[in-house]
Amino acid sequence: MERTFAIIKPDAVERNLIGKILERIESNGFKIAGMKKTQLSQKEAKGFYYVHKERPFFDSLTEFMCSGPVVLLVLEKENAITAWRDLMGATNPEDAKEGTIRKDFALSIEKNSTHGSDSAENAAYEVSYFFSETEIL
Ligand code: CMP
Repeated sequence: MERTFAIIKPDAVERNLIGKILERIESNGFKIAGMKKTQLSQKEAKGFYYVHKERPFFDSLTEFMCSGPVVLLVLEKENAITAWRDLMGATNPEDAKEGTIRKDFALSIEKNSTHGSDSAENAAYEVSYFFSETEIL
């Protein structure tokens, strides 16, 4: 069983898509092992996306991620990291395949509705950034 970290981003929470996205997660065989709704501070968002700090979209991305509530998730499944990325679809919804979350719900490359860890190393870092082990069940 592998763990990955996911976020339902402010654009999706604002449009009442939490339930629809969780339904896709559960019906695709993921166990929701950790879940919390929160609003990120600038400090949390900048720390979380630290790897992107030199990218031109960094300020806009971190501002957007603090613009409203988000849902933070720890997901478990065999090959969870790849499976969640496949279910989300490509970062840019214009490139996302039919039936993926981003194809169906994302508004733009920035307001792309969900986040997912891209490697085992980042998944471990991202889970521990927001969750303590006692919050993962
Ligand atoms: P995410 O999977 O959360 O990882 C980094 C995020 O940066 C990404 O989703 C997008 O929301 C955002 N992002 C990536 N590339 C761009 C881009 N070219 N312009 C704006 N935002 C981007």
